[in-house]
Formats: sequence, C-alpha cells, structure tokens
Amino acid sequence: MHSFPRTRPRRNRVDGWTRRMVAENHLTVNDLIWPIFAVEGVNQRQPIGSMPGVERLSLDLLVPAVAEARDLGIPCVALFPVLPFDRKDPEGRESGNPDNLMCQAIRAIKREVPDIGILGDVALDPYTSHGHDGVVKDGYVLNEETVQALVLQALVQADAGCDIVAPSDMMDGRIGAIRDALEAKGHTLTRICAYAAKYASAFYGPFRDAVQTGGLLKGDKKTYQMDPANSDEALREVGLDIAEGADMVMVKPGLPYLDIIRRVKEEFRVPTFAYHVSGEYAMLKAASANGWLNYEAALLETLLGFKRAGTDAILTYGAVDAARLLRAAGQ
Ligand code: PBG
Repeated sequence: MHSFPRTRPRRNRVDGWTRRMVAENHLTVNDLIWPIFAVEGVNQRQPIGSMPGVERLSLDLLVPAVAEARDLGIPCVALFPVLPFDRKDPEGRESGNPDNLMCQAIRAIKREVPDIGILGDVALDPYTSHGHDGVVKDGYVLNEETVQALVLQALVQADAGCDIVAPSDMMDGRIGAIRDALEAKGHTLTRICAYAAKYASAFYGPFRDAVQTGGLLKGDKKTYQMDPANSDEALREVGLDIAEGADMVMVKPGLPYLDIIRRVKEEFRVPTFAYHVSGEYAMLKAASANGWLNYEAALLETLLGFKRAGTDAILTYGAVDAARLLRAAGQ
C-alpha cells in the first residue's frame, strides 16, 4: 500500500507569510556596525582596489557618510585611520597624540552626528613604520611596552568622545590595563569591545591595502594573533578579557569562525560581535563582479548566518548596502 508522509516540513515553507512567521532568526539594521577609513586632507575620496565600493574619506566627506548611516538606522561605526608614511615611526607614537586623525574624526562625528555610536580601533599598526601592532624588538612584539602605548591611545580616544574603544592587537593584559586607566580618568561609561579571539588570518589582506600597511609588514602576526587551529584557546582569551573588564567581545574573522562565535555565546552569554572582514567582503565582490553570484543576496545570507550562529552585532563593509536592502524590504 502506498504511504504518505504525515510530517511534511515543506508545509511550513509553502508561502511567504508562513515562512516569515516561522523564521527563527532575523537580521535587522540594529545588528550592523559599519567600518570606515579616514584620511587626512579635504575632498579626499580614495577607492581601495581590493575592496570595491569602499573608500578612504577625508573628514569633510566622512562625516556626511556617517550621517547617512545614522539616517539608515545603523547604530555604530568603526573608525580606522590611514596615515601618511611620514607620520609613522617604529613605536607608533602618533597613536597617543590627542590631536591625531583618529581623535579629529571622533570629535567631528560627535559634533555633527551625536546620535551614532563610535567604536574606535585601538592598535598600533596604522601608526608603526613596520606595520606590526606593537613595539618590536629582535623580531618580537614586546607585550608590556605595547600595552602602555595602547593605554595612552585608548585614553586619547576616550577623551575625544569615543564611545567604545576596541583593542585589536591581541597583547596579553591590555583590557585590564585600559579599563584601569579609563576608570582612573573618569571614563567610567566608555565601553571596551575586546577583539578577544582574533586569528592570524589570510583574510585581512585587503584591509592592509586599505590602511597601507601591507607593503610595510615584515613577517606575520602569528606570535600575537591566534592560531586558526584553536578553539578552546578562544574561550580562554574571551574569559580573560571579560574578567579584565571587557563589555563586549569580538570574534574575527567571521565566516570561517562561526563555530567559535557559537561556543563563545553559549559559554559566556555576553554581547558577542563578529567581524566580517575585508577578505570576506572582497570575495563576495569579486565573485559578483564575475557574475558568479548575486552580491546583495549573498551578503544578506551571510549576515543572517552570523545571527544564526549567535552573533549580536556584525562589523561589515556591507553595512550600508545591507541597511538599504533591509529598508527596501520593509524590515
Ligand atoms: C589590525 C587590524 C586588522 C584588521 C582590523 N584591525 C588587520 C591585521 O590584524 O593585520 C582587519 C580587518 C579586516 O580585514 O577587515 N589592528
């Protein structure tokens, strides 16, 4: 006798309204953090070859772009400075200058677009002449000397009005040192987003083009960024950063590390961000430029995947594109 399935999962997929009603995860504009690159000068709009659609902007153009992001409902931007080579040195001293490009950008955004959050990257690589995220001696990035510089950098950013300081360097003990310094200076509400599980990844290549450190960098960052082979170690790093006073933690890169996001979220239940990094964005753009996939659909599917894995917010170069798509779809 012919038998029919009683349970047909396809019933709940049969029309749009049912699919909407049973959807388990949702991407909204509130999940998006937009990374942007600032350059000195005026009227500067510099395309980045390996990141189609992304530009380095001088502050007169960057501030209106941030206002547009705010108008779309994007809650936060992540700021990265791009410095001319003559402002770089082996110690990255410009990072502690209270009038550096980063602080100028923070002040300009806070003045003109006060109702958007600013996440300030705290790291030495845009400022060092060798492209490493710290002070190098005999080929090794020194931990304590670097942490001291990071503390100063975080303080000048907080003084300028930065809402969230985000150390992306992977030195040991930097979250605690920055937290103590912020408290001591009265910045009790400045949040710290720790790049807690940051891997030594091949997917950062286009970012290094964007901040013009790729050509400077000798060697790799494997003595401070994590080994892609490791997962328990990510939990250890996240645990340390939370204990030292981090308010949010980040996993980076994104797609190849969704398992880490899931483990972090399940273990710690703290705000957990993911960085959909430059190489991941470049892959989508390159494939779509060849007509091999649809950028918009693949972007939204990717970002939804982050939500499914347990991510609270996603740093993505596609934030504005995604915000527009979500708005057009009435979401
Ligand atoms: C370095 C930093 C990197 C990124 C953000 N901060 C690159 C690196 O570690 O070399 C990469 C972001 C991206 O690829 O989009 N402090």
